[in-house]
Amino acid sequence: MKLTGLIGWRGMVGSVLMDRMQIEGDFDFIEPVFFSTSNAGGAAPSMAKNELRLLDAYDIEALKRCEIVVTAQGGDYTADVFPRLRAAGWKGHWIDAASTLRMNQDAVIILDPVNMPVIRDALAKGGRNWIGGNCTVSCMLMGVGALFKAGWVEWMNTMTYQAASGGGAAHMRELLNQFGALHAPLKALLGDPKSAILEIDRRTIDTQRGFSADAIENFGVPLAGSLIPWIDKDLGGGVSREEWKGSAETNKILGQGDGFSKPLVPVDGICVRVGTMRCHSQALLFKLKRDVPLGDVEEAIRNDNAWVRLVANNREASIRELTPVAVSGTMAIAVGRLRKMAMGPQYLGAFTIGDQLLWGAAEPLRRMLRMLVQS
Ligand code: HSE
Repeated sequence: MKLTGLIGWRGMVGSVLMDRMQIEGDFDFIEPVFFSTSNAGGAAPSMAKNELRLLDAYDIEALKRCEIVVTAQGGDYTADVFPRLRAAGWKGHWIDAASTLRMNQDAVIILDPVNMPVIRDALAKGGRNWIGGNCTVSCMLMGVGALFKAGWVEWMNTMTYQAASGGGAAHMRELLNQFGALHAPLKALLGDPKSAILEIDRRTIDTQRGFSADAIENFGVPLAGSLIPWIDKDLGGGVSREEWKGSAETNKILGQGDGFSKPLVPVDGICVRVGTMRCHSQALLFKLKRDVPLGDVEEAIRNDNAWVRLVANNREASIRELTPVAVSGTMAIAVGRLRKMAMGPQYLGAFTIGDQLLWGAAEPLRRMLRMLVQS
């Protein structure tokens, strides 16, 4: 069994990953070695088999023994350790959730239900760097990748509604604390059905505007009862890094654009943080190359992979099945609100939702691991 180093397994993405690996029986196929950046020598978790102690995640010699390394430790760790490990002559497979290496030429962004041919091609050529994609992009492609595969898309516009979890565990806590802080002083007024709603509203905005530095430590501004129309770094020219990733990663996953024989398909939009917990949602507008019948579009999406769940485009189904509350914690990728738009028969609207910790982060990693250990 392949010696597999696991790093960052205790964090939020790492915990979801460990959970999924246990559910799918992945530990039956590997000899795990658990590493730690802070607790080397401590006890390894119950999935450990022979290596019962945590090893130092910065120990290049210990990492070198592994045939596969899976890390959800984050970008700073990758930037520090990966080049040193490769420089030390390590030839193993590196599976990583962080974005650090994603756009490197020798790295493949892994999302096998969408880009198995790209992965197989890279494997055949000796590829060794397998990087999970941006959560928004991965969830979107799991939902509507079929349209790209069919070659129908001339361009895609995506307007995102991204959950607090995309920022990390502390962001989720901060969101809930903000909701609590908004509600607490209003309890009495809310309990009185005759109280004035404009008074409640005025107090709410006063609380939001008066949040202490601690209350907005992670997001920098209030999110509860508000939204933040910018995610990640400012790349200049009015573009956020999250928006740039939308095009760069979508095309790289699909094996098109720079460095591939197929042309790039323009993808652009505006990425927005909203007060949801762990599901990223997106309103999509496609310009199709031709007037593809809606029935064909629905069939292609429905048959694309085992996880996509097509939601009928009516009020009842949309408000019950096409929401973060319905999708959260499940492997389903919901796609709905599919219809031709008023601009013409080549313009297709859609709405899609995925759990950003599952398909958006952990799942592609464990599936790549499984592919490597079973090949
Ligand atoms: N950048 C994403 C977000 C995280 O902030 O929501 C998933 O890659």
